[in-house]
Amino acid sequence: MQSLTIIRPDDWHLHLRDGAVLARTVADTAAQFNRAMIMPNLSPPVVDTAMAIAYKARLDAQNTSLTPLMTLYLTDHTSAQEIQLAFDSGIVKAVKLYPAGATTNSAAGVTNIENIYPAIEKLEELGMPLLVHGEVTHSHVDIFDREKGFIDQQLAPLLQRFPKLKCVFEHITTSEAAQFVTGASDLVAATITPQHLLYNRNDMLVGGIKTHLYCLPVLKRNTHQQALQQAVSTSNTKFFLGTDSAPHAQGAKESACGCAGCYSSPAAIELYAQAFESFDALDKLEAFASLNGPDFYGLARNSETITLTRRSWQVPSSLSFGNELIIPLGAGETLNWKMEA
Ligand code: NCD
Ligand code: ZN
Repeated sequence: MQSLTIIRPDDWHLHLRDGAVLARTVADTAAQFNRAMIMPNLSPPVVDTAMAIAYKARLDAQNTSLTPLMTLYLTDHTSAQEIQLAFDSGIVKAVKLYPAGATTNSAAGVTNIENIYPAIEKLEELGMPLLVHGEVTHSHVDIFDREKGFIDQQLAPLLQRFPKLKCVFEHITTSEAAQFVTGASDLVAATITPQHLLYNRNDMLVGGIKTHLYCLPVLKRNTHQQALQQAVSTSNTKFFLGTDSAPHAQGAKESACGCAGCYSSPAAIELYAQAFESFDALDKLEAFASLNGPDFYGLARNSETITLTRRSWQVPSSLSFGNELIIPLGAGETLNWKMEA
C-alpha cells in the first residue's frame, strides 16, 4: 500500500498549555486533527466553567481550524452544581480526575474519591463523561504497578457504585487496563498514546535514560506494550486515539528531575501509522483515529479526509517552543508515512 486516506482524526487527550507556546501547540494539532479534548492541568488548573470559557477563547484566538473541546479539573471541592453549570455551558464536554500527586500539575487533584461522589453522581445523571488518570499515588506502590492498583482499588469499585457513569480510562499502559476496559460495559472506553504502542521501558532505560520518552503513566514492559497493540488490532470500538501530547521545553526535560510528558503532536498521525504498520494493523487505524472516539462521545464523525503517503522522512530533532526548544517524540527517527498537507 502506497497511500492511505482516512477520515480526519480527532485527538481525545491533549495538553496544549498556555501563553506564548499556544502558537506552536495549537497549530501543530490543527494541522492533523479536527477536534481535541483539551486537558485542564494548567497552573492554576481549569476548575470551573468560567476558566474553561476563558481558556477556550485563548485557544480560539490562535485562529486555526482546531475545535477545542473543553474539560474541567476535578478537585475535592467540585460540587454537583459546578458540574451542572459546566454541562449547561455546552462548552465543557467532560471532566478530568487527577488523583492528587499522580502527574504534572495534579497537586490540586482529588485526595479521596469519596469527596467527589456528589459530582460523579451528577455526571452519571447527565451522561457527561468522566476522564480518569488511572494511577494510585501511595508512595509504597511501585510506579510500574500504579495503574493496576488504580483499577482494583478505585476504578472497579467506582463503576460498580455508578454503573451508568460514562468513563474514559485515559492513556492506558497495561494488559490489565486493556482487559478491564474490554470487559466493562459500553459506557467505558480508553485512549492509547503513540508512545505506549511504539515503545516499552527498555527503550527508555537500556543504554542510558532517554528522558524524552519519560511520561506518566510510565512506559511498561514489552508484554504490556504487546497487549495494547493487540487491543487496537481487534475491531473493538472501545479503544481510540488520545495522544497525551504533553509538551515540556527541552530544559525542563533534560534536567536532574525531568518533567513527565512526550510532545507527539507534530507527527502524531504518522507515529500512530508507524506503530499500526509494525504490528500489521494499518487497516484498523481509521476506526481507532477517526471513528471510535466521536461514536463514544456521541458526536458526528468528521466529514473531511486526510491522506498519508508512504514516504520516508525524518522527525525534526528539535522545534521552537516559545523562547526555548522542544524535542518532539520520535526526534531524528525516520518514519514511513507522511501526511499530505
Ligand atoms: C502530562 C503533562 O505533562 O501535563 N504528562 C504526562 O506525562 N502525560 C500529564 C498527564 O497526562 O499525566
Ligand atoms: Zn495527559
